[in-house]
Amino acid sequence: MLLAYLLASFLLFDATCPKQFYDPNSCASSEFSGGSRYICNDSPTSCQTFIVYRARHGFETVSKISRLFGVEQDEVLHANNLTSPSRILEKDWAVLVPINCSCSGNFFRSNVSYSIPEDATFTKISCEVFGGLVKLHTLVKEHPSNANNLEVGAEVTVPLTCACPDSNNSRDGIMYLVTYPIVEEDDTVVVGKRFGISPSDIWVENNLGGPNPIVFPSTTILVPLRAMPSINSSIKDPDNEEHGFVPITSTVMTGGSINQKNLYAIGSGVGIFFMLLALAGVGFYYKARFKLRENKFDSLSTRSSAASCLSPDLVAEMSKYSLVSYSFEELRRATMGFSEDTKLGSSVYKGRLGVADVIIKRMGFGDAQRTISIYSKINHINIVNLEGVCYGESDFSSSYLVFEFVSNGCLRDCLRNPANVLPWRRRTQIAFDVAIGLHYIHHCTAPSYIHMNITSRSILIAEDWRAKIANLGMGSVIDSDKERGTDVMMTFEGWIAPEYLRHGSVSDKVDVFAFGVVLLELLSAKEARDGTLLKKLGFLTGGGGASGCFEELRAFMDPSLKDYPLGEALCMAILAKACLEDDPLPRPSTNDILKILARMVR
Ligand SMILES: *[C@@H]1O[C@H](CO)[C@@H](O)[C@H](O)[C@H]1NC(C)=O
Ligand SMILES: *[C@@H]1O[C@H](CO)[C@@H](O)[C@H](O)[C@H]1NC(C)=O
Ligand SMILES: *[C@@H]1O[C@H](CO)[C@@H](O)[C@H](O)[C@H]1NC(C)=O
Ligand SMILES: *[C@@H]1O[C@H](CO)[C@@H](O)[C@H](O)[C@H]1NC(C)=O
Ligand SMILES: *[C@@H]1O[C@H](CO)[C@@H](O)[C@H](O)[C@H]1NC(C)=O
Repeated sequence: MLLAYLLASFLLFDATCPKQFYDPNSCASSEFSGGSRYICNDSPTSCQTFIVYRARHGFETVSKISRLFGVEQDEVLHANNLTSPSRILEKDWAVLVPINCSCSGNFFRSNVSYSIPEDATFTKISCEVFGGLVKLHTLVKEHPSNANNLEVGAEVTVPLTCACPDSNNSRDGIMYLVTYPIVEEDDTVVVGKRFGISPSDIWVENNLGGPNPIVFPSTTILVPLRAMPSINSSIKDPDNEEHGFVPITSTVMTGGSINQKNLYAIGSGVGIFFMLLALAGVGFYYKARFKLRENKFDSLSTRSSAASCLSPDLVAEMSKYSLVSYSFEELRRATMGFSEDTKLGSSVYKGRLGVADVIIKRMGFGDAQRTISIYSKINHINIVNLEGVCYGESDFSSSYLVFEFVSNGCLRDCLRNPANVLPWRRRTQIAFDVAIGLHYIHHCTAPSYIHMNITSRSILIAEDWRAKIANLGMGSVIDSDKERGTDVMMTFEGWIAPEYLRHGSVSDKVDVFAFGVVLLELLSAKEARDGTLLKKLGFLTGGGGASGCFEELRAFMDPSLKDYPLGEALCMAILAKACLEDDPLPRPSTNDILKILARMVR
């Protein structure tokens, strides 16, 4: 390793062009290559610059992030055009942190002092706490003596990766080199757009070659800027927008205790009916598996005698057994080498395994584990099924989850398709299916689960036009012991419940609000991104009389929808309006919603 180190340094110092290099090795890799740290032979010895920190569990507010980096909270707020130090930021939200970068022993670094907490390892500190802003081997080299013996409470110096522009910056007017940690959905084009620069500037600065070079999660790149940095966080990978298969990125679980109240308080006939249906389904499934996997006979039979037939633990065990483990090679073949043709989103592919089409999503190891733990408690016809997994070799290489393929795509695309207008019967059925799926995750899983991202893009439509909810894993597990939803992070996409925006308060009513938005879209076929569509339903409360009311309703409805019972449409509009109440309390529960919709489907 020393030889590689010397060789790399020698090669770099010898280079005539003093640009920095990109290191494709992930944060925890022990390989040192050019670009693992940025060199400072030909540059000023220090500068004030910025690094980008991605908000994450434990460091999700400006106040916590400022404390981690030992910088003034106001400076961070100012740099990011934010006002509230305690606002909970979406997971992976890019925060600009002002730092002083200086040259020490040929490498740039920015010293941060970090107090060791319980259970810390150098890998966790470099790749999780600091999100890859310092490579593991840089940190180990800094503290060679206590790598295996971290004393809780001790202060260690963490040399963050940073760089200053050339002293001779008449070259191209570069004022800042911002250190940017790559996450799953990033590529250089998106990063360039978010900073408002051409991606080729990034390729040149990092010696990446191009066009469209590949950059990997858990690595860093330098973003060269000619002015004070600002990040436009609303720019996302366009691939994700179009297809509605948003990769699962954030899951925060608040612990595993069962919410007894929610599980047992299913009082309505509807609830019990579906509970029984689910149990019957499990029983059937159990038998099928029992036959299929005779080699598992012993372990399964002992389990079944020990655990009650109705125990939720058994359900969880069952779904664990049913998850298929795929090799990377199988998935590579299924997607023709992850080719562009099979790509549905930035890290989502369509593949063919045997005779069945599947959706393959790439994600970090931790996210994959959390997603599996959620799906392992969920098994329902109205929820997209998780079929298999392929774990990466290490905690920091990508894992892949394999989901069932749902052939008619997302609801948004179905509503947008003029060639194949969704008839009224299908729309009521879709609303009913989504309500059942929501009711199931809110009331029939333990712990109960809040989806937090119900939109017409996270609802997929199967070949038989039945709806399935996708993208579980962004939401929140509700733990009865803790205050609800104190640390949920989610994507601010579209229009969400006002109480969540104002106080970060999370309950099943956040999903009910989102369901109301979906109902508006089913009625009008327009995409509801804010309250303007709802305003058009104002006639429902006005005193216009029944005939005027129907006129306005007709104007509100999807114009391509030719034949529908006006009474049912009115009923659904009233339901949508009730779901979209500002105050969560008067919003209907999924129970109430099911009772109303059940009258419409046939
Ligand atoms: C900062 O935010 C305000 C409102 O939140 C916006 O009007 C303004 O344009 C933003 N400034 C920059 C530089 O992005
Ligand atoms: C960086 O240096 C400047 C001037 O020396 C100082 O005012 C500022 O507080 C420093 N910032 C940090 C984050 O250390
Ligand atoms: C950062 O820490 C290293 C080692 O502790 C030290 O040599 C260096 O001078 C420090 N740099 C600054 C700017 O404080
Ligand atoms: C700085 O740039 C100018 C013109 O681009 C060049 O003539 C000069 O040699 C450079 N100086 C250094 C120290 O590289
Ligand atoms: C951010 O990007 C979006 C989409 O391109 C654009 O509409 C918006 O004006 C941008 N915001 C700022 C502050 O530049």
